[in-house]
Amino acid sequence: MEEKLALKGGEPVRKEVLPFVPREADIDDEETNAVLDVLRTKKLSQLVSEKVSEFEEAFARYYGVEHAIAVNSGTTALHIALAAAEIGPGSDVILPPYTFMATANAILHQNLVPVFADVNPRTYNIDPTEIEERITEKTKVVIPVHMLGQPADMDPIVEMAKRHDLVIIEDCAQANGAEYKGKKVGTFGDMGCFSFYLNKHMTTGGEGGIIITDDEELAKRAKSIRNHGRPEVSPYPNVPAHNVYTCIGYNYRMTAIQAAIGLVQLRKLGGFNAQRRKNADYLTKNIGGIKGIEPPYVRDDMKHVYWAYGARVVKEELGVSRDTFAKALLAEGIKAEGYCPIPVHLQEVIKDKVGYGGGSCPFDCPWYGRRVEYQKGLCPNAERLSSEDLLLPVYQTLTEDDLNDVVAALRKVASNVSELR
Ligand SMILES: Cc1ncc(COP(=O)(O)O)c(C=O)c1O
Repeated sequence: MEEKLALKGGEPVRKEVLPFVPREADIDDEETNAVLDVLRTKKLSQLVSEKVSEFEEAFARYYGVEHAIAVNSGTTALHIALAAAEIGPGSDVILPPYTFMATANAILHQNLVPVFADVNPRTYNIDPTEIEERITEKTKVVIPVHMLGQPADMDPIVEMAKRHDLVIIEDCAQANGAEYKGKKVGTFGDMGCFSFYLNKHMTTGGEGGIIITDDEELAKRAKSIRNHGRPEVSPYPNVPAHNVYTCIGYNYRMTAIQAAIGLVQLRKLGGFNAQRRKNADYLTKNIGGIKGIEPPYVRDDMKHVYWAYGARVVKEELGVSRDTFAKALLAEGIKAEGYCPIPVHLQEVIKDKVGYGGGSCPFDCPWYGRRVEYQKGLCPNAERLSSEDLLLPVYQTLTEDDLNDVVAALRKVASNVSELR
């Protein structure tokens, strides 16, 4: 093809750069009015407003679970879930290395030790066989992460967790509304944690999160941890509950304004996800034939909700690396990236065991009683994926022109890779 690449001085496919995840919330007057309504009440905190429990009830209904505990981020949802599980310091938590750093950070916040199980190279999700191989007497929790919107393989994980008496905390931050064999993610484990950060499937005003569970005890503990460690009911006849502290707690509360936005966004979630899936199908149909670019592999029994479209660059077929290809795409106006250019187990904080107070706790704490090492080669699939995955945009606010620009840019760069060598 004769079109000159923008990187080489040609005309770009589009002038305004299109990011792979949205940089703006998909909101309209409904959210604005909901916020104004809350503002007019002047009752802005969860402690004085009914909005947060209204949102929690709506979210629990959507997921068909008993309890939802709204918090201020997906990270704090994970931290609370681990704390509520009451796993003692020095225990291991298994997670995938192809995830957001927050999954590992939450583990460290609770003085627990992250143990990485490699991912399936096709689905990018944690491989159940790899989990099994890493289970020891120290393993207490497994965190399957439903990456990019596709559910992890939950049946074997649930079976294994039962056999080894492990707590399952599902990280659903990228998969709000996804389904595994017809059942929603977040409902397989003991707890499911969600993020409402700006670029997620729905937002609660830029930041936010929630934990879902059917377990009343876990829900009670999670509510207390979210609110400074206060109990629901005071054990003292003359001291109110808000003056009593029964566990280590935090202020991880969601505000009434966030909850009001969440209530509106939750009603729109099904429509948002349907459009994401449609956009992803459109990309798959139109880029399927490009040699060296593989569309995401989606299992038939999964409902993928595409936080992003996780294509893969096969360098041997395409002729250039993912990074070279992505650079040329950016010049064409499409910002596509790898998700984990450094897998989590090789991030400095983990690899160098950077712990509390300049020491290496919790990794090498006396109570851990064992040396853990994180080095290259530990998770070869994730390490390979780190230079091959290419996240493309499919969020619901894209226009048909935007999608066509993505296709055009991919085709243009792929047909001119010889210029990039
Ligand atoms: C897989 C995963 N886990 C956890 C989080 C943390 O969520 P938040 O950014 O709301 O703290 C995110 C989101 O960014 C995520 O993608």
